[in-house]
Amino acid sequence: MTIELRSAPLVEQELEKLTSKCELLKSKGVTPSMKVILVGQIKASVIYTKNKKKFCERFGADCEIINLDESINEQDFVDAVKKISENKSVHGCFVQLPLPSHLSHIDPGALIDPNKDVDGFHEHNIGELFKGDPKSKFLMPCTPQGVLGTLNYYNFPVEGKNIVIIGRSLIVGKPLALLLLNNNATVTVCHSRTTDLKEHTKRADIIISAVGKPRFLTADYLNENGKQVLVDVGINHDENGKLCGDLDYENLLGRCQAITPVPGGVGPLTILSLAQNLLQAAENSL
Ligand code: GUN
Repeated sequence: MTIELRSAPLVEQELEKLTSKCELLKSKGVTPSMKVILVGQIKASVIYTKNKKKFCERFGADCEIINLDESINEQDFVDAVKKISENKSVHGCFVQLPLPSHLSHIDPGALIDPNKDVDGFHEHNIGELFKGDPKSKFLMPCTPQGVLGTLNYYNFPVEGKNIVIIGRSLIVGKPLALLLLNNNATVTVCHSRTTDLKEHTKRADIIISAVGKPRFLTADYLNENGKQVLVDVGINHDENGKLCGDLDYENLLGRCQAITPVPGGVGPLTILSLAQNLLQAAENSL
C-alpha cells in the first residue's frame, strides 16, 4: 500500500510552535511583520498571496499585501521594494513572482535586505546554503525546506539515499539539490536535456519532480520494487483545467512506497517555510 504524504498534520504541528514563538517575540516587544509585494492581479498570485497572509495571521504575525499597479515602471518598482525592505518595522518581505514581462529581468531578491529575504532568494542566503554550515541562521529557500520537512516528518530520512531531482530552476531544483546534499543525500539533478531520464529515475530511492508538466511522471519511470518515494512539486492544470501535479498520481498509487498528493502535498509547506523564515528573521533582529 502506498502512503500518502499529506502536509496537513505537519502544518498543524508546526503552527503550534509558530504560535508560541510568535507570543515569545511579542513579549519581547517584537510583533513579526511581513510585507508581500504583488505587482498586478495575476489570478494565481492573488490567491497565493492571500493564502500567505491568512497563514501568518493564524499564528499571530502581521502581514500586509502591497499591490503595485501592473504598469509600474522599473525605477518606481525598484524604489518601492527597497523602501519596504529598509523599513525598520518590517522583518520579512518578498515579491510574488512572476513579475509582468517589462519587469521580469529584475532579480527581486537582490533588492531586499538579505536579513529580511524570507524567500531565501538573495545571493547571501544562496551562498550560505552553498556553504552548508549547520550553525548558520540564514534564510532558506521555502520550497526545498518544505520538501525536506515532508520527508523528515514521514520518517524518510535522506541521508545516504539516492535522490533524483527533475528540474533545475533557481527556486526549486538547484537549491533543493544543495539542501539535500547538506543533509548527506546522493543527489542527481536531471533536466530537459538529460538523456534517458528513466535510467536515472529507476535507480532512485526518492524522486522529486519540479518540471511543471501535468501528470508527466508515469509508472514507466519507476522500477519494480515498489519502494520508491515520490515527491511532487508541480502545480499544473490539465487539459480540463483540473489542478494536478507532475506525477500521474492515480496510476502511481500502489506502485511506490509513498507519494505526495496535489493539492495538499508540498504546496502548503512552502507557505509554512515562509512563516518559519519570518520568525527566524524577527528573532535574528533582536
Ligand atoms: N511564485 C511561485 N512560487 C513562488 C515563491 O516561492 N516565491 C515567490 N516570491 N513567488 C513565487
